[in-house]
Amino acid sequence: MASTTLTPTTPSQLCSGKSGIFCPSQTLAVQPVRRQMMGKRKGLRIGCQATSIPADRVPDMGKRKLMNLLLLGAISLPTAAMVVPYGAFLVPPGSGSSTGGTVAKDAVGNDIIAEQWLKNHGPGDRTLAQGLKGDPTYVVVEKDRTLATYAINAVCTHLGCVVPWNAAENKFICPCHGSQYNDQGRVVRGPAPLSLALAHCDIDDGKVLFVPWVETDFRTGDAPWWA
Ligand code: FES
Repeated sequence: MASTTLTPTTPSQLCSGKSGIFCPSQTLAVQPVRRQMMGKRKGLRIGCQATSIPADRVPDMGKRKLMNLLLLGAISLPTAAMVVPYGAFLVPPGSGSSTGGTVAKDAVGNDIIAEQWLKNHGPGDRTLAQGLKGDPTYVVVEKDRTLATYAINAVCTHLGCVVPWNAAENKFICPCHGSQYNDQGRVVRGPAPLSLALAHCDIDDGKVLFVPWVETDFRTGDAPWWA
């Protein structure tokens, strides 16, 4: 028959024992004497040890606030270091221009310098560049070997194929379903329902700059469908 003696403890006392019995601080502590076991089983001895935390070892409020701030800094700095580059990746690169335009890029991603471009591209040339929102856009060289004040978006208005320039035919001819556009990008044969979109082509600090075209389409006299 096992026997135990129950005695009250103070609130700061903690109890522990090998059997895994723990006493909450405001309950009774178990002081085992010896448990008589049947057969060869040995008795179980439970020891209780009272502990208390001295008041001078509890961190004051100032130290706890400092630790919280240090913890916050340790978490937020690496988080910001990861989040900011990801956020910047999602924002389209700007041209740095105050006009809101985009500097045209050539086939290898370099800024197009107007003077160099005109040296390498003859009258009537239409060559693709990277335009607004990354759309393929034709830079147009006029017959007098100057840059046209407009650029032509190469995305077909039928189903979105990139329309190549056909110098022999003096037209843009879509390879997907045969739509045709004249040398200014006005649709002359379907199934494309609309003319190719336009952008302004300016020169800013020597570079070719594409600016959104929001005015009337000079080819049709209509409002721009793409604006
Ligand atoms: S995508 Fe150009 S004609 Fe169909």
